[in-house]
Amino acid sequence: MAPISSLAVYGTLLLQSLVAATPFPRYFQNNPLTRRNLTTAVVQRELGHILSNDTLIFGPESPEFPEASSRWNEFVQPHVEIIVEPAQEADISKIVRYCNDNSIEFLVKNRGHGFTTSLNAFKGLQINMIKLQGVDIAANGQTALLQGGAFADPTVRALWDKGYVTRGVTLGGGHGRLEGLYGLAADGVVHLNVVTSDGSEIGVNATSHRDLFWAMRGAGHNFGIVTSSRIKIHPRPKSTWHYHSYTWTGDKLEAVFEEINKLHKSVNGSAPVLLGMDAGTYTLNQSISKTEPVIFWDFAYNGPAEEAEAMLQPFNAIEAVLQNVRDVPYVQIPDYNVTTQRRLYGLFARTLAQYPVMARGTLLAHEGYGNKAVQQVPSHATAYPHREQNFIVYLKATVPEGSGLLEPARAWAKETFDLLMEGQGPGQTPKTYVNYAWGHPWETAKSMYGDEPWRLALLKKLKAKYDPFNRFRFYNPLVAAK
Ligand SMILES: Cc1cc2nc3c(=O)[nH]c(=O)nc-3n(C[C@H](O)[C@H](O)[C@H](O)COP(=O)(O)OP(=O)(O)OC[C@H]3O[C@@H](n4cnc5c(N)ncnc54)[C@H](O)[C@@H]3O)c2cc1C
Ligand SMILES: *[C@@H]1O[C@H](CO)[C@@H](O)[C@H](O)[C@H]1NC(C)=O
Ligand SMILES: *[C@@H]1O[C@H](CO)[C@@H](O)[C@H](O)[C@H]1NC(C)=O
Ligand SMILES: *[C@@H]1O[C@H](CO)[C@@H](O)[C@H](O)[C@H]1NC(C)=O
Ligand SMILES: *[C@@H]1O[C@H](CO)[C@@H](O)[C@H](O)[C@H]1NC(C)=O
Ligand SMILES: *[C@@H]1O[C@H](CO)[C@@H](O)[C@H](O)[C@H]1NC(C)=O
Ligand SMILES: *[C@@H]1O[C@H](CO)[C@@H](O)[C@H](O)[C@H]1NC(C)=O
Repeated sequence: MAPISSLAVYGTLLLQSLVAATPFPRYFQNNPLTRRNLTTAVVQRELGHILSNDTLIFGPESPEFPEASSRWNEFVQPHVEIIVEPAQEADISKIVRYCNDNSIEFLVKNRGHGFTTSLNAFKGLQINMIKLQGVDIAANGQTALLQGGAFADPTVRALWDKGYVTRGVTLGGGHGRLEGLYGLAADGVVHLNVVTSDGSEIGVNATSHRDLFWAMRGAGHNFGIVTSSRIKIHPRPKSTWHYHSYTWTGDKLEAVFEEINKLHKSVNGSAPVLLGMDAGTYTLNQSISKTEPVIFWDFAYNGPAEEAEAMLQPFNAIEAVLQNVRDVPYVQIPDYNVTTQRRLYGLFARTLAQYPVMARGTLLAHEGYGNKAVQQVPSHATAYPHREQNFIVYLKATVPEGSGLLEPARAWAKETFDLLMEGQGPGQTPKTYVNYAWGHPWETAKSMYGDEPWRLALLKKLKAKYDPFNRFRFYNPLVAAK
């Protein structure tokens, strides 16, 4: 999922192909009118006059287009034929209705961080949320109303941690350094203003469309467009964060993972709530060794240094090559399987030895979060299905353009996945964090949205109710395209 050079080629100025390529008009099977020659100019004229006057509508011929359609992962190239940047929330429902009337697919882009290749199936009109940046903090200081594209506002930056703000993140759950204290980003949502697949504008919360409220918190990308949301806000943590990172050689792997596993259940079965996050990677640091990857691990603690260092004492005892210091029996807690980690490490080293050109930027990453508040929310309370999971592991492989190594990289990803599955012991099913899914075949709807039969059945029932024609199917779809 590493950014490579841009491959973007947007050929046609006509939307003709868009309409012709729609396999069958899902929404308007009885609509005799299938538009055959919709151009950027026609859409500008027709849609432009019903939307607020600061809205922008432009096609590939426009100089703004490359920036407005760019994405973090350049392997992901949804076929964007026209872009609309609504200036007001009320525009969104009109855009959706217009798309439905003309059999045009639509896709929301927020920050463009979504990196799943499922987005490649998209062809049509992109709704950019960039102009909807409003932030309004309630008088009581407990919640804030954020428009669908808000992320840049300094208030937002000050109040929320990285990852807590963009809607794309929240809709899939939202992991971040405050979750030990406050839960997932989705757990802080109080109310959502949503435009559904037929263009209706509805309020979604614990008392209004309660079923959809459940689904939007974990599987939200499949259900509607969030034009704004009210979320809980919290006073800034009083203390500073204490960061301590270590770089260890590969022979320390077992010692490191044993201590990480202990740390994650050291306080009544959970990680210390003030341990915001610990994240580790395997990478090749050529100045340390040309063949043996190093283990890099960084801890972020929201409290005083002495307290953090007391917690980190066991790690200080494992001899590191480099260090950098900046200023419960609840449920069954899964561990990292140390045997598996040794195998993953070996696979990492072997693969990079075989394909050294991939080494730059390639890493096997591990993330662990403080999870107390996440696990205090009952698993059935929201659509997010993986509250019991402590850790996230992913492989980010750099494939230089023209190297022909995409297939070996895919095979490596598959082998990594197989090792992780094997290490989970018998009876475990694959679990994918939807926001980190890449589009691999083993990232099934069950693995992303939960494999309890009741959960999937409920999601599918809600899907039939709120999006019967599957308009929201491009971001890690719950229901595959027919
Ligand atoms: C650099 C980077 C850092 C990350 N950090 C974190 C992190 O700390 N924690 C974490 O949990 N995840 C993190 N992620 C993963 C992130 O959650 C997903 O990439 C997510 O899809 C990004 O959402 P976006 O709005 O930024 O991206 P987009 O690509 O703009 O949106 C992704 C999808 O979300 C949907 N969507 C977006 N906005 C709306 C809306 N208003 N209404 C309805 N649907 C919408 C659309 O289906 C869209 O395709 C990170 C990813 C990257 C690349
Ligand atoms: C295409 O648009 C032009 C006007 O721009 C119109 O005269 C023509 O009939 C349209 N063709 C079709 C097939 O709709
Ligand atoms: C846009 O609309 C607002 C109110 O609807 C109006 O005050 C303003 O003059 C309009 N601007 C332009 C450039 O038409
Ligand atoms: C829930 O949504 C309804 C409909 O939009 C709204 O009237 C009500 O005030 C909302 N409740 C909360 C707590 O936001
Ligand atoms: C651990 O759990 C016990 C029993 O529920 C409780 O009394 C105690 O305060 C908890 N300790 C911490 C540090 O949370
Ligand atoms: C690699 O190791 C050297 C020391 O040998 C260090 O200075 C450098 O910061 C390391 N690089 C990274 C990316 O950690
Ligand atoms: C850890 O992984 C190994 C190798 O796949 C496996 O044999 C073992 O059962 C796993 N341990 C646990 C506790 O699941």
